[in-house]
Amino acid sequence: MGTRDTGTRERAHGLPTERTSFVGRRRKIAQIRRMLSAAPVVTLTGPGGVGKTRLASRAAAALGGAFPDGVWMVDLAALRSRDLLAPAIVEALGVRDHTARPPLEVLTGHLADKRLLMILDNCEHMVDECAVVARTLLRTAPELRIIATSRQSLRVAGERLLDVPPLALPSGARPPAGLLARSDAPRLFAERAEAAAPGFAVTEANGDAVVEICRRLDGIPLAIELAAAQLRTLSLDQLLAQLEDRFALLPAPGASPAHHRTLRALIGWSHGLCTGEERLLWSRMSVFAGNLDLEAAEAVCGGDGIARHDVVDLLSSLVDKSILISEHDGETVRYRILETIRDYGRQRLEESGQAAVLRRRHRDHYRRLASETRARISSPEQVSWLARLGADHANLRLALEYCHTEPGQTRAGLAMAADLMYHWVNGVYLGEGRAWLERGLAAETEPSDVRVRALWTDAVLAIIQADLPSAEAVLRECGTLAVEREDPMALAYVALGEGLLALSREDPVAAIPLLDDAVRRFRAVDDPVGVVEALIRLCVAHRSTGEHALAISIGKESLAVCDRHGLGWHKAYTLAVLGVAVCERGDAGHAAALVAEAVRFNRALRDQRGVGLDLEILAWIATTQGRLRRAARLYGILRTLWARIGDPPPSGYLHSAAHGEQSRSLARHAMGEPAFQEELERGAELDYDAALAYALEEEPDDSGSPDGPDRLPPLTVRETQIARLVAQGLSNKEIGKSLMIAQRTAEGHVEHILHKLGLDSRTQVAVWVSKHDPARG
Ligand SMILES: Nc1ncnc2c1ncn2[C@@H]1O[C@H](COP(=O)(O)OP(=O)(O)OP(=O)(O)O)[C@@H](O)[C@H]1O
Ligand SMILES: [Mg+2]
Repeated sequence: MGTRDTGTRERAHGLPTERTSFVGRRRKIAQIRRMLSAAPVVTLTGPGGVGKTRLASRAAAALGGAFPDGVWMVDLAALRSRDLLAPAIVEALGVRDHTARPPLEVLTGHLADKRLLMILDNCEHMVDECAVVARTLLRTAPELRIIATSRQSLRVAGERLLDVPPLALPSGARPPAGLLARSDAPRLFAERAEAAAPGFAVTEANGDAVVEICRRLDGIPLAIELAAAQLRTLSLDQLLAQLEDRFALLPAPGASPAHHRTLRALIGWSHGLCTGEERLLWSRMSVFAGNLDLEAAEAVCGGDGIARHDVVDLLSSLVDKSILISEHDGETVRYRILETIRDYGRQRLEESGQAAVLRRRHRDHYRRLASETRARISSPEQVSWLARLGADHANLRLALEYCHTEPGQTRAGLAMAADLMYHWVNGVYLGEGRAWLERGLAAETEPSDVRVRALWTDAVLAIIQADLPSAEAVLRECGTLAVEREDPMALAYVALGEGLLALSREDPVAAIPLLDDAVRRFRAVDDPVGVVEALIRLCVAHRSTGEHALAISIGKESLAVCDRHGLGWHKAYTLAVLGVAVCERGDAGHAAALVAEAVRFNRALRDQRGVGLDLEILAWIATTQGRLRRAARLYGILRTLWARIGDPPPSGYLHSAAHGEQSRSLARHAMGEPAFQEELERGAELDYDAALAYALEEEPDDSGSPDGPDRLPPLTVRETQIARLVAQGLSNKEIGKSLMIAQRTAEGHVEHILHKLGLDSRTQVAVWVSKHDPARG
């Protein structure tokens, strides 16, 4: 769950939504288009605030049609460590990887056959690393195109540079108002002024002042926006007078390369116009990465000169002044600060001598968030807490980085990495989570509660990655420590971990007693999430050994625990696992309903990976129902989904990979290649929303209910499925495989069918089906 993609990302677009109007740059966009047709990398260079990021995303949106695999923005501004460059790209592309492969390898694998445009935004602080990554990716992905924004060139072969100039100023003196408004810089000013002071318009009377202001600001968009925001409180003439005062000492307007000085002076001026509290907040906010919510701003920036309850008003006045940008993320508002403005705040913070205190407060806040999430994971709030962590991934990372760079903080870092267990699993930050854990474990070698917790967390992540040897080693150490320390919770996790290991090795018989033991131990320490984690696997294990009734009753028990404690995420997982068991026992209709509930839940959580896992099961259920066209179309949907978000988890996550493969090839075989392909393509072409509506049968089926009714009287549902498969030409053995039943059972059903219909041969059954089944008539 919780991959937290925005609606746009769900359609293979990773561009931020534009919140303000865009002005000019038509020729630059055309130039970028031309350059990209000849070169794989175009780097937009230019000083801060000149509009590189905005131009890059506009150009990418305009070129989107040429890139079937989407256009994606990767913001590198918040990255402090070069090791995180490849993981950051993986994350921004929405790729979810379950393996222990290095992130760069994941990227090359994902991009190899893609026609995709990627923006690497703000490369300047790691130009060399960006160059290495770009080179590697371009070598393996010939169709990949990159737009980089940077204050300097990346120096990769095939790179084209495009200098982004400030917005155009009107040439000549006193252009008439009409013409003036067609000139880019005054137009931007007019549009932002209109937002700050409704009713504002450029006229013959104020045209000169507008042009003069834009000249003073060198046509730099960010400077123009900051100045225009002042029209809330100043008249146009006052604004001009203030700028003239402020800029009296600067070189003559337009004298390049003074752009950055102009912008700096303007930011300084905006700073001067802020109240003392606003200035404090601005400087303190520079310690965050990416964006932040109100609670974080209050917790980290409140106090010492800013009353906590004033923070909300201060934030909105900084938004009014164009210092901050407010972004809506579902129901919450988050605040972002542009890089150049953040830099200015950071310098003020350093000068104030408070930087170390603030960085510590930032870390403390996110450390608290991590530990509270752990405390609430067994409550109805689990979903909302995990979603919060997802939104704050960049800040969590920064807090962990702090723990490993400030002396004496590695223990806190280890505790935090362990507290984030469900965040790593949920966001599929498996590799990153393990890296933080292992960094902490290497630094904190003394046996302690924290070490034990970190060990079992590391083991769980390693098992999900199918890195079984590492998991085994880590679990062994954890087991020894748990016994020595008589730590009941650790012992429960060790039992769970060992059960998981056995299951991963496809040894359910060995897994069952271990998981039973884990359930008992988690019950004894009153840990519902632990209980459910173990029950879910126990359901899988019993199903694998053919004890379906037991598997189902355990799945139901897990559902009851989830309902009692409001564990939404685990409930969706349980529903899917239970669905498999129910289907195998022969009640495909009920199974499909259970899994559909899981899909609806994961859709609401915007968890595409969870949805993908559920759809795999739905497709398999459709095959066992003999609803082959539906199955084929679902496999098409899955092809598109997995191509976008990375490979599905290795196997055994819900039902084994072999199940899926078998079901795919059965559907293909039974339908015949051309019909299968046709449905597959239809599914693959659906966008995400339409695909889910189809999967959930929320929309009337446009193919006229290709699969027909569940039941063709006098046959039962099961017999109908089997009769359809017989009609497809499948042997009893193949039918058994397809429906996950013994060949003997299939034979028995076929006998019944012949008897009920008064027929003698399979061929006659095929004829009967073609007459009576609307789907095949
Ligand atoms: N052509 C444009 N039309 C409208 N607004 C623009 C335009 N270009 C830039 N802006 C606005 O000006 C501000 C600065 O632009 P942007 O962030 O793209 O600059 P940048 O060159 O990327 O700066 P930095 O080097 O700090 O990353 C933003 O608020 C952006 O929306
Ligand atoms: Mg930028």
